[in-house]
Order: sequence, then structure tokens, then C-alpha cells
Amino acid sequence: MAKRKVFFCLFSSLLVLFLRSVSAEDDHEDKQVYIVYLGALPSREDYTPMSDHMSILQEVTGESSIENRMVRSYKRSFNGFAARLTESERNILAGMERVVSVFPSRKLKLQTTSSWNFMGLKESRKTRRNPSIESDTIIGVIDTGIYPESDSFSDQGFGPPPKKWKGTCAGGKNFTCNNKIIGARDYMSKSKKNTSARDYFGHGTHAASTAAGNAVANTNFYGLGNGTARGGVPAARIAVYRVCDDKGCDGEAMLSAFDDAIADGVDVITISIVLDNIPTFNQDPIAIGGFHAMAKGILTVNAAGNDGPKISTVTSTAPWVFSVAASVTNRAFLAKVVLGDGKILVGRSVNTYDLNGTKYPLVYGKSAALSTCSLDKARLCEPKCLDRKLVKGKIVLCDSREGPIEAQKLGAVGSIVKNSEPDHAFIRSFPVSFLSSDDYKSLLSYINSTKHPKATILKSEEISNQTAPLVVSFSSRGPSTIVSDILKPDITAPGVEILAAYSPDSSPTESELDTRHVKFSVMSGTSMACPHVAGVAAYVKTFHPKWSPSMIQSAIMTTAWPMNASGPGFVSTEFAYGSGHVNPIAAINPGLVYELTTADYIAFLCGLNYTIEDLRIISGDNITCTKELSKTLSRNLNYPTMSAKVSGTRPFNVTFQRTVTNVGMKNSTYKAKVVTSPGSKLRIKVLPPVLSMKSMNEKKSFMVKISGDRIGTQQPVSANLIWFDGTHNVRSPIVVYAMS
Ligand SMILES: *[C@@H]1O[C@H](CO)[C@@H](O)[C@H](O)[C@H]1NC(C)=O
Ligand SMILES: *[C@@H]1O[C@H](CO)[C@@H](O)[C@H](O)[C@H]1NC(C)=O
Ligand SMILES: *[C@@H]1O[C@H](CO)[C@@H](O)[C@H](O)[C@H]1NC(C)=O
Ligand SMILES: *[C@@H]1O[C@H](CO)[C@@H](O)[C@H](O)[C@H]1NC(C)=O
Ligand SMILES: *[C@@H]1O[C@H](CO)[C@@H](O)[C@H](O)[C@H]1NC(C)=O
Ligand SMILES: *[C@@H]1O[C@H](CO)[C@@H](O)[C@H](O)[C@H]1NC(C)=O
Ligand SMILES: *[C@@H]1O[C@H](CO)[C@@H](O)[C@H](O)[C@H]1NC(C)=O
Ligand SMILES: *[C@@H]1O[C@H](CO)[C@@H](O)[C@H](O)[C@H]1NC(C)=O
Ligand SMILES: *[C@@H]1O[C@H](CO)[C@@H](O)[C@H](O)[C@H]1NC(C)=O
Ligand SMILES: *[C@@H]1O[C@H](CO)[C@@H](O)[C@H](O)[C@H]1NC(C)=O
Ligand SMILES: *[C@@H]1O[C@H](CO)[C@@H](O)[C@H](O)[C@H]1NC(C)=O
Repeated sequence: MAKRKVFFCLFSSLLVLFLRSVSAEDDHEDKQVYIVYLGALPSREDYTPMSDHMSILQEVTGESSIENRMVRSYKRSFNGFAARLTESERNILAGMERVVSVFPSRKLKLQTTSSWNFMGLKESRKTRRNPSIESDTIIGVIDTGIYPESDSFSDQGFGPPPKKWKGTCAGGKNFTCNNKIIGARDYMSKSKKNTSARDYFGHGTHAASTAAGNAVANTNFYGLGNGTARGGVPAARIAVYRVCDDKGCDGEAMLSAFDDAIADGVDVITISIVLDNIPTFNQDPIAIGGFHAMAKGILTVNAAGNDGPKISTVTSTAPWVFSVAASVTNRAFLAKVVLGDGKILVGRSVNTYDLNGTKYPLVYGKSAALSTCSLDKARLCEPKCLDRKLVKGKIVLCDSREGPIEAQKLGAVGSIVKNSEPDHAFIRSFPVSFLSSDDYKSLLSYINSTKHPKATILKSEEISNQTAPLVVSFSSRGPSTIVSDILKPDITAPGVEILAAYSPDSSPTESELDTRHVKFSVMSGTSMACPHVAGVAAYVKTFHPKWSPSMIQSAIMTTAWPMNASGPGFVSTEFAYGSGHVNPIAAINPGLVYELTTADYIAFLCGLNYTIEDLRIISGDNITCTKELSKTLSRNLNYPTMSAKVSGTRPFNVTFQRTVTNVGMKNSTYKAKVVTSPGSKLRIKVLPPVLSMKSMNEKKSFMVKISGDRIGTQQPVSANLIWFDGTHNVRSPIVVYAMS
């Protein structure tokens, strides 16, 4: 029950699913799930990975029946298996000559609509598209499954799957694919309930429709957000990989999903799931799977996480994985609170319930405390803290976002909540409004000021807020604690109050108290931002089918809308939004790109002093670092952003080396332009300052030399390098920072 609750809170507030630990099931206490890597797949025709894996496992365990030991086999894109092993069995395996590496499976978490118009990708016929190529594009969605009957996934007008498709429909019971959802696989069928790729949560359905859902007119959430819901590439196909169940998501299932998605022939992988701690690359199934995908030409897009606004909370840190922050769009949902004295307080909420203007008595959780519970807990409306007699039929004030759940259980008619981060709305299963701290305070003094305080909560209305975009408070921030000189997250995209397809098998809040079942719902999270960028990546790929993942990533990053740092500290800087806000139309014509190959990433890892064992875990190959490679500086990775951590107390000199590839026009000349923010004391030199490109795909290298004085640890210092040829602005943020 407790476990279920944690999961529920995560779902109902901000959407990123956790990948959970698969180790230590009750009946295997002394054993843990390990992933055993055997490297590349042998090309011999008579090699059968499955029986090889079984015989290795039999040999090591000495058991003839290994059914309970084998968890799964990786056999399509890389060679290996996951098995329940004791520590000593693990050690024997690690010592075997054929075994590249053995490492434990890790926990992970799951962290409209008008958002595409907002980004400039309009529904109009004028939007440039490549319909036939788009229809051959496949997006792999690794998530909670999908609701296949949704209108967003109808296959009306779709021909048979693209020829390159090698996947299958193995969605389990009562799951049929069609020419839109061309494939489905379920890795959680061992869990007792819901043994299919059918989505009983809504999270995966929402992500899939945001990336590649059909255009569906007149969609709304109880009238809110009415419009056409559609994905970035509505003509593309979807392949579904379910790795989560009602207890969370599995790390070793995640690797299976990668193993299959790569071999199935997907073009882009979207993953709105993160780990619940910040893993090093060798502990991170998304970094490991993403490395294999990258090596096979497939871009992996991942949510940055919902642990902001604290800095250094970004969990998606591998440079070969595209990490996405969440921003607000120009639309917001408000729910007004009308007090007994007629005063109106404007809260933020997705409230579909109508109290018909009836005013109900107000009570503060703290004033309804049971004697068995501290006032501090009662103020938060914690479970078993409120006196049913004092809250029944009333509107209850709670100092915590989860408080309304308890209030509803005890018969309250609504709840008003203190929200210290009023830049996004939440959904609850009865009338709720979330007030800013100031408004909440004035509500408390109203309660104090009168004998019979009363209020009503109005149904939500939507407003248009032209000041967007800003990164939302909950979006995880850099700097990366794994590699200090790689700027993360990479980019930001709409992730607040997004309307997209949902699973009617679930309820919008996931709460047992919620009786609503909808085909479209509003959700917020970096989980919602991630599939927007996956849709853009697929869109870019339809114009440039041969581009590598790093080229697509670079194109999207260097053409992003600039955002400005604001406020003190790190919270609203490049460490929130990376290179800026995704701009789909510009991304198809970047002019220059920063390319990276598998070898570049290996050199980068060598430079980070990863051990050979670690390198093998990440790459799945038997590689070694030469002395030369071990000298690689991570800041010289040919990344589209430049970031360096320096000492804040001494003057510094930092050099970045980069190489750009011409993908614009023949005979173009780019001039370097450096834009520093006012007051910035960085001295920046670009050498050479002019790049002449005669032919397409020509490469030119340059250096960016930066010097500065003591910058202190309070705030990063940033600038932009823009290569300009008269047409293209190829922009890279440069960030220098120090931290105590
Ligand atoms: C890995 O490479 C080394 C030499 O580079 C070689 O001796 C060893 O046999 C290789 N191991 C595997 C598992 O291929
Ligand atoms: C299959 O799923 C749909 C949608 O949830 C449901 O309406 C239908 O009854 C199910 N059919 C079977 C045979 O379970
Ligand atoms: C599992 O599926 C059944 C229908 O077969 C559904 O009623 C139930 O809600 C699902 N369980 C969960 C945890 O979603
Ligand atoms: C949504 O918009 C359409 C057309 O603009 C309109 O016909 C429909 O009534 C609207 N629905 C709601 C619930 O507002
Ligand atoms: C508000 O009015 C509608 C329609 O008359 C009714 O269905 C609903 O129950 C009312 N809600 C409340 C809280 O009284
Ligand atoms: C309301 O009254 C209580 C007790 O009389 C007091 O402790 C509290 O500070 C008051 N709150 C506000 C917001 O005025
Ligand atoms: C509109 O956006 C600005 C900047 O993002 C924000 O400060 C303001 O609170 C927003 N207004 C509403 C009503 O959400
Ligand atoms: C950022 O600041 C520059 C100059 O200060 C200004 O021209 C630009 O409009 C600002 N951009 C945004 C997105 O606010
Ligand atoms: C790696 O190790 C070398 C030699 O010990 C050291 O100079 C270098 O700073 C280390 N690099 C990193 C990124 O830790
Ligand atoms: C930075 O480089 C300049 C020019 O080469 C040199 O004069 C200066 O001493 C260097 N500063 C530091 C802190 O190394
Ligand atoms: C590029 O420039 C060269 C030399 O200036 C010229 O001969 C050639 O025709 C130009 N090509 C294009 C496509 O403009």
C-alpha cells in the first residue's frame, strides 16, 4: 500500500516515471539481478544467443533448471542476458573470458494541441512536410504502453508498415496493432496484472500522441484546451515498448526495449523515464541503451527529470542522449476562489468540477487536527490527521499539494492549497485551487477575520500568457554532477498543461477517488516535453534521412530560440534551458552542424578516466583506452554547447576546440559573432574568426579562447557564439561557472 502511494504521488503531481529496482524480490533475497554483457553478436549463422545464455548460466549456477534465474536475453542489437545471481556467481561470471562485463540492474522512475502551434509548427498546409518520408518514419516509445483504440492512433489513411520495419506485434492479450501502431512489445508480462502493452496509466499514451499522434479535432478536457490535438509528425508510425507496471519501471526491461527497438528499425526513441538518483553512465540503462542506439544511428530523447528548481538535479547527463527540460507555453489554466466577502483570488489549477457558485464553509487543516496528530502534520492535511467531523462538507485549506487527497477521503467538498511554485497547475479528483503563498496568506487572514468564513471554487478557465516561454520550476537543472563540462539539459520544450491522448482505463489523477475516464487529458512534466523534441527530431529526419543522431541533435540545438538568463543564481540560466527553446521549422535548415561519432564518445569516456570495465559496460564492446585517448578533455567533445567549470577565485583561461560540418550551401562564408550579456567580463576570441566552406559536408575546425577574472560561485557567466553566413545563425551558448 505504501509503495502504491508513492507511485501515485509521483504520477499525480509531476509526470516522470521511476525506473524501480528489480533486485531483491522477496523470494530471492540473497540474489540480485545482474546484467551480463557478452559484447557484439557473433556473425556466425549457427549461433543461437538464447541457448548460449542458458548454458553459461547453467554452468555458473550448477543448476539444471534455471527458469527462476534467467530474467531476459539480449540477442538482437547486443549480446547478453539479465539473471538473478549471488555475489559469488557474479564474480565467477565476471572472470570468464567471454564475458565483457557484469553489472547490477538499476532502479528507474517515470518522471495538445496548441503546443505545436506555439512552436511554429502549424497545422496549415503551408508547413513544409515530406509526407511520404514521414510515413516511413518510426518513433519508438519506451513507457507504460499505449491505448491502441485512441483516435490519435487510428490507421485510417495509412498504408502498410514501412519496408524497413523488422518488429512485431507482441502486445499481449487484447492488444492489436494497426498501420499506425505498427509494433508493440511488453516486458512486464511477468507482473501479475495487466499482461499486455495496453496502457492502464495514460502516461505512455500521452507521450506517444505528443510525438506522433494523428490530428484529432475538437479535443478537450471537460471543455478545457479545446482544439486539434496532434503530434509533431502525425504521419509517422509508432512502436510501443512497455517497461513499466503499477510498481514502476525496470532497468533490465529498459535494456531489452533498446535491444529490440534498435533491431526493429525505429528512427527515434523517446523515453519519459528517469532514474531516481543521478547515475554515472556505467550505472544508467538509458545511457547504456542510448549508446547502442547512437552507434546504430538512432537518436534517444530523454526527459531531464522533475527535481527542479534545485540545481544539479538533472538525471539525464550522457551527451549521446538528448536531454529535455520543460517550459510553460502561452496557455495557462486558472481556477478562481471567490470568498464570502466577494473578494476573488486567482489560483492555478486544472479544475473540471463545478460547485455552481455555492459557497461552503472554510476550515484550515491545522484547525481540524485530530488530537493524535501534530499541528504541523495537520496543516499539511496528512493522512490520519484530520477530524472527519470538522472537514466534512467544507472546503479545506492544506499547506501541501497532496493534502486534498485526505480531505476528499473525509468528505470535504473541495480544497485550497498553498503552492510555492505557482507556474504550473495540478489536477485533483475534486474541486481544488492552488494559490500562491501570498494569496494563501491573505486567505488565512480572511479566515481569521470572520466567524463564518466561506468560499467557492470556480471551474478552470484558460488564459493566454504572452510572456512564455520560461522553464518551469520543477524541471531539473544542471550543472551535471557526472561531467562538469557538458551543459545539461540540452534544450527545453513545452511540458506544462499539455493536452494529449490518454487511457480511459485510468483516471486523470490515477486516484481511486477519481471517477473520471477520458480520452484526452492534461498533464505536466518533463515527460511531456521529451516527446515534443522526439517529434521534432523525427521531423528533421524526414528532411535529412541520412543524418546521424548527433547531426539532428546539433541542428535542433543551434537553431533553438534564445532564452535569457534571469534572476540570481543558476536557476534561470543555461542550466535550466540548455541551448534554448526548440524551434522545429528552423531546425531543418541549420547551416552548420557539430558532428560526433562513436569514436569521439569513446575518447570522451577515456578522458573521464572510466575504467576499462566501465567502458565495456557502456559500449558493450571490448575496447581499451590508449594513453593518447586518456588525455581527451571533455570540454573538447564536439558538442553544440560549450561549458567549463573553473575556479571561482582565480583568473582563468579556457579553450574549446570544435569542428563544424557544412550542411547549408556550397561556397558559404561564416563569420563568428560573439554576443556577451551586458556587464559580462569574459574575453572571448574565436580562431579563425571566418570559416569558408566551398563544398557541402566540408569540415572546418576552430578554437574558442576565453579568459576571465574571478567569477565567484554565485552565478554562471555566459555568452553566445554565433556563426553567421547571411542566412543561418548557428548559435552555441558558452557557459563558464564555478561552484563551491
Ligand atoms: C579483448 O581485447 C583484448 C586485447 O585487446 C583481448 O586479449 C581479449 O581476448 C578481448 N576479449 C574479448 C572478450 O573479446
Ligand atoms: C479489450 O480492451 C478494451 C478496452 O479497454 C475493452 O473495452 C474490451 O472489453 C477488452 N476486451 C477483452 C476481450 O478483454
Ligand atoms: C488491469 O486490467 C484490468 C482490466 O483487465 C483493469 O480493470 C485494472 O484496472 C488494471 N489494473 C491496473 C493496476 O491498472
Ligand atoms: C471546440 O471547438 C469546436 C470548433 O471550434 C466547437 O465546435 C466545439 O463546440 C468546441 N467544444 C467545446 C467543448 O468547447
Ligand atoms: C451543479 O449543477 C449541476 C447541474 O445542475 C449538477 O449536476 C451538479 O451536481 C451541481 N454540483 C454541485 C456541487 O452542486
Ligand atoms: C490567525 O489566527 C491565529 C490564532 O489566532 C494566529 O496564530 C495566526 O497567525 C493568524 N493567521 C493569520 C494569517 O493572520
Ligand atoms: C505569465 O508568465 C509570466 C512569465 O512566465 C509569469 O511571471 C506570470 O505569472 C504568468 N501569468 C500567469 C497568470 O500565469
Ligand atoms: C534577451 O535579451 C536580449 C538583449 O538583452 C533581447 O534583445 C532579447 O529580446 C531577449 N530575449 C528574450 C527571449 O527575452
Ligand atoms: C584522469 O586522470 C588523470 C591522471 O590521473 C588526471 O590528470 C585527470 O585530471 C583525470 N581526469 C578526470 C576527468 O578526472
Ligand atoms: C591567460 O592567457 C594570457 C595570454 O596568453 C596570459 O597572459 C595569462 O597570464 C593567462 N592567464 C592565466 C590565468 O593563465
Ligand atoms: C563557388 O566558388 C567558386 C570559386 O569562387 C566558383 O568557381 C563556383 O562556381 C562557385 N560555386 C557555386 C555553386 O556558387
